[in-house]
Amino acid sequence: MALSIPTTSMATTTTTTTTAVISSILLLLLFLPTSYCSENYNSAIPVSDIDLLEFPLNLEYLEAEFFLWGSLGYGLDSIAPNLTMGGPPPVGTTKARLDPFTKDVILQFAFQEVGHLSDEGDGLVAVVVAMVVLVVGCGGRVVVRGGRAAEEVVGWAIKNTVRGFPRPLLNLSAEAFGNVMNSAFGRALKPAFDPYANELNFLLASYVIPYVGLTGYVGANPKLQSPISKRLVAGLLAVESGQDAVIRGLLYERAREKVKPYGITVAAFTDRISELRNKLGSAGVKDEGLIVPTFQGAEGKLRGNVLAGDQNSVGYDRTPEEILRIIYSSGDEHVPGGFYPKGADGVSGVTTGCSFSGSPYPASRGIALNPLFSKFLKLANVGVNKLHSLKYHVAQSNVMSMVLPLW
Ligand SMILES: *[C@@H]1O[C@H](CO)[C@@H](O)[C@H](O)[C@H]1NC(C)=O
Ligand SMILES: *[C@@H]1O[C@H](CO)[C@@H](O)[C@H](O)[C@H]1NC(C)=O
Repeated sequence: MALSIPTTSMATTTTTTTTAVISSILLLLLFLPTSYCSENYNSAIPVSDIDLLEFPLNLEYLEAEFFLWGSLGYGLDSIAPNLTMGGPPPVGTTKARLDPFTKDVILQFAFQEVGHLSDEGDGLVAVVVAMVVLVVGCGGRVVVRGGRAAEEVVGWAIKNTVRGFPRPLLNLSAEAFGNVMNSAFGRALKPAFDPYANELNFLLASYVIPYVGLTGYVGANPKLQSPISKRLVAGLLAVESGQDAVIRGLLYERAREKVKPYGITVAAFTDRISELRNKLGSAGVKDEGLIVPTFQGAEGKLRGNVLAGDQNSVGYDRTPEEILRIIYSSGDEHVPGGFYPKGADGVSGVTTGCSFSGSPYPASRGIALNPLFSKFLKLANVGVNKLHSLKYHVAQSNVMSMVLPLW
């Protein structure tokens, strides 16, 4: 992961670390009366929510790039470079050969994804601004670049920089999709499947993506504590499901058509892809193709399956671990690969006791910390979260006027 962190001399680092510790302690004092890990603090976004909200960024980045490149022939680096936060450009992307209708739809998806990335990114601007003021007030020196989530602000307190969550390295090459299809069929398709070759192939490749994100949002929702987080996830879920429904709908129209030159129907492709995801996810059936055995259709009565759902037609859920197993194509959340050669990001090694413990994620932004400092970090995070929640209740300028007198 090409994290670019400004270099500083040893002396500066030491001074600034001390400054950061002091300012964090003050921050801590500022927010001490409210509870640790915010069990019931109704307006705060608990630390555990932040991991759950950040993790889907991995998929949102992937979707944004795939849809932008597929429809336009260029990606985030041209459309919204600051959303990448300096992450490496995706590998193997190219413009797809799409008919005007499909291009129109995919382009809409693409900009929806850009919006998703922006929402998640901008939510904490006020926190970053507030932190800057607090730390400057403390005599610290500040380097703020692409302010992002609260825990990264705390990351900055250690490293003298705001460590973002840059776009992870994405492998969107025809070969990466071709490998998914080969695994799905248990043999090498000849010629290799090319997602960019035509609109049908692109839709089949798209079948691979938003659905996984969708199950992740369903899985995340019950674990979220703050109403603000739940609202965001519900809103993201709504649009991801809509995208999946459109993709499935367009494919369903052609379900019995044979994909050239393989002589395999569209329905069989979706069936095999779904089966593969069930296998990789190792958590039972959570994925269904477009034509299913009757018992899997709505109310166990139908074979047509334009939307996937459980026996009550309620959307399936997946955990971040299940999702990693699938998007790495490895079946193991510890073994990156597939679309994420260097792993996903967003589940920090500086993870809090309130969230996924043990952080199995190889590309996480972990920093080796001694236990005491990491405990302290958690508390500082809680303070930052309080600031975060303020953003939602008052205008940005009011945040400042509320924070400064306290200071
Ligand atoms: C990117 O940064 C510029 C300048 O800092 C800002 O005006 C713009 O709104 C940002 N764009 C996005 C999509 O965040
Ligand atoms: C992308 O994936 C293809 C197929 O697995 C692989 O051959 C290629 O080396 C990968 N590229 C990177 C940069 O990981």
